[in-house]
Amino acid sequence: MPLNDDELDKWIYKKHTEIKHEILSKYLGTWIRILGSRYKAVNYFDCFAGRGEYAEGEKGSPIIALDTAKIVKEDFSYLDKINCYFVEKNKNNYENLVKKIADNMEEHKDDYEGMISTQIINDEFINIAPDFTQISSSTPSFFFIDPFGWSGIPFKAIKDILKVKRTEVFLNFMVRDMNRFLTNSNHKISIDDFFGIENVEEIIKNRDSEWAGEYALLELYKKQLLEDAKVNYVLSYKVCADETSQTTYYLIHATNHPMGCEVMKNIMYKAGTEGRFGYLGPQNGQMNLMRYSDSSEFQNYLFEKFGGRKLSYQQIRYETLTETKFIQKDYKEALLELERKGKVIITGKGTRGGFKDKKAIINFICSS
Ligand SMILES: C[S@@+](CC[C@H](N)C(=O)[O-])C[C@H]1O[C@@H](n2cnc3c(N)ncnc32)[C@H](O)[C@@H]1O
Repeated sequence: MPLNDDELDKWIYKKHTEIKHEILSKYLGTWIRILGSRYKAVNYFDCFAGRGEYAEGEKGSPIIALDTAKIVKEDFSYLDKINCYFVEKNKNNYENLVKKIADNMEEHKDDYEGMISTQIINDEFINIAPDFTQISSSTPSFFFIDPFGWSGIPFKAIKDILKVKRTEVFLNFMVRDMNRFLTNSNHKISIDDFFGIENVEEIIKNRDSEWAGEYALLELYKKQLLEDAKVNYVLSYKVCADETSQTTYYLIHATNHPMGCEVMKNIMYKAGTEGRFGYLGPQNGQMNLMRYSDSSEFQNYLFEKFGGRKLSYQQIRYETLTETKFIQKDYKEALLELERKGKVIITGKGTRGGFKDKKAIINFICSS
């Protein structure tokens, strides 16, 4: 018998949950700071908010988001308002969440005063999604979508959210369970609905690739985001169950802004198993991993891609954000190496050799 969503056995805090929260809190902190400096107010929508705490009292995502907002607010006086919306379907979880948020607000009353507002809704995401989409049209908005499964998250709702300017989605895709139930006709409607296409099972079965089913599902969802929802940047982060190192879910980040994508890329790079864009279980997590491919391979890639072009340091990174697993420091190292080899000419470096985003200009010598 599957457990109910409010049974405490479902709320054991695992290492991979901690990593999910770490990514959420780091990204949210930077996102609030950057967007808040321009637009003064931001919205945070926690659409599968949970009970506010885990079995042993560990903080749930709503409290983590409030803590993050509080810290950013203390450091950045220009922020006017952080509006937090929490949706939870299960009555018991909702009641616990209301209590946890009330305790938290009471504890930090002075910090929150007039600055952080909260609204807690006992409903299903799908019922409330149109209102949230409407609210987000006037204020930059971040949507955290963290279900136990995949039903009740139609692709249409995600697409509508992402159509609005300055919205971002951070979604937990429960790929292992979906793969397990892919051929079960009871799940056909909810799976097709999740992707916004018919016959997902057939598409995955007929794929022309040796990918494992889970990975094929991930790629199909990314394709939907990029081609149907027309999002500019999509990143994914692989999360394995602690015990088995089998993929449990993917965290997916979708944004239209290159800066948002790059910030998330840096955070995902460092979280869990460094450089692997994933938490690959406790044993892998403890390994001191070497780089997974050497720098000369990356240099060749850059040289072939940009041969004959002249671009800023930022343009080079932004044009390749979701194509490479490399982060800023790797780009700098590779470009300096290409300079040593006489394959690029770099102008506009800082006095100490630093690369400013738009000032450092890299001229790739034509490869032929
Ligand atoms: C994985 S838990 C959320 C954990 C939470 N985000 C955290 O990190 O602390 C998923 C939650 O979504 C709730 N839920 C299930 N179906 C829902 C729906 N259709 N709309 C909103 N909440 C739902 C469940 O009761 C459960 O509390």
